[in-house]
Amino acid sequence: MILDLKELSTAEKQYYLQHVVAPRPVCFASTISKEGVVNLSPFSFFNLFSSNPPVVIFSPARRVRDNTTKHTLQNVLDVPEVVINVVNYDMVHQTSLASCEFPKDVDEFSKAGFTKEPATLVRPPMVRESKAKLECRVIEVKSLGSEGGAGQLVICEVLKLHLADELLDANKKIDPTKLELIARLGGDWYCRVSKENLFLVPKPNVKLGIGIDALPESIRNSKLLTGNHLGMLGNVHEEPVVDPSFDDEHLKTIFQYFAVDPSEMEREVHAYAARLLDQHKVHEAWQVLLAAENVV
Ligand SMILES: Cc1cc2nc3c(=O)[nH]c(=O)nc-3n(C[C@H](O)[C@H](O)[C@H](O)COP(=O)(O)O)c2cc1C
Repeated sequence: MILDLKELSTAEKQYYLQHVVAPRPVCFASTISKEGVVNLSPFSFFNLFSSNPPVVIFSPARRVRDNTTKHTLQNVLDVPEVVINVVNYDMVHQTSLASCEFPKDVDEFSKAGFTKEPATLVRPPMVRESKAKLECRVIEVKSLGSEGGAGQLVICEVLKLHLADELLDANKKIDPTKLELIARLGGDWYCRVSKENLFLVPKPNVKLGIGIDALPESIRNSKLLTGNHLGMLGNVHEEPVVDPSFDDEHLKTIFQYFAVDPSEMEREVHAYAARLLDQHKVHEAWQVLLAAENVV
């Protein structure tokens, strides 16, 4: 299916785009009206756009239903200050509750059962229960249109970051398994960043990776090695050569059992290399593949 956005209704555009531009982190924005009424609402059109200056942007859009504006937008236009509270799993249902369209004079901290904690530089309070809070100054509000669904970008400079001590290790580094962030997808779908679904992808270092196009043809066209496996093999910075000290019992067994049938042998070797790569053993996988290249 190919969709021409011009032919979709606003609700359809929103539906498809929110499902594919996902997961999005959730900005739980605390703002204050010029009369001093506090507002607390979640926004998943949100991200970090600059570290120097430190800038995050979120977007309280004009309502698709009736093209009205959200209290959060009205507040930041009057009082250009916001606290962005990061939402972790333990807060998700209360956060969703705060997204109800309560009247402007209703304090959503009370409605959603969160505790106010004074911020140090801005007027809106922080959410005590949040483990990471950003005190921000609104530097610009950029309207993307005047129709229902039009984003209203609230561009914020982050002035202060409050981090719960429990998130930090001895070197003051954040342990993402302790933060347990949530993120929004399309419709009612969310995801939870937990130990079981976190994984590491080592950064390609300063030296360039050799690239998938530099892999031997039999590896590049392997029926067993996936794109992820080839990506790992192509991320070494010089073409690997046979390491004479590499000694692997399982590889010897494969050579012994499949010596008579080269295509069977290649299949077994690639399956073994795939298993090694799944364990992030890139050097070993390369050695297995190189040894087989010289045998087949
Ligand atoms: C997790 C979550 C994310 C949301 N993200 C957005 C968003 O990015 N933009 C938006 O306009 N509304 C978003 N909403 C809906 C607003 O939170 C909702 O319209 C809220 O009532 C606005 O409150 P306010 O009028 O008090 O500012 C989201 C709701 C939830 C539950």
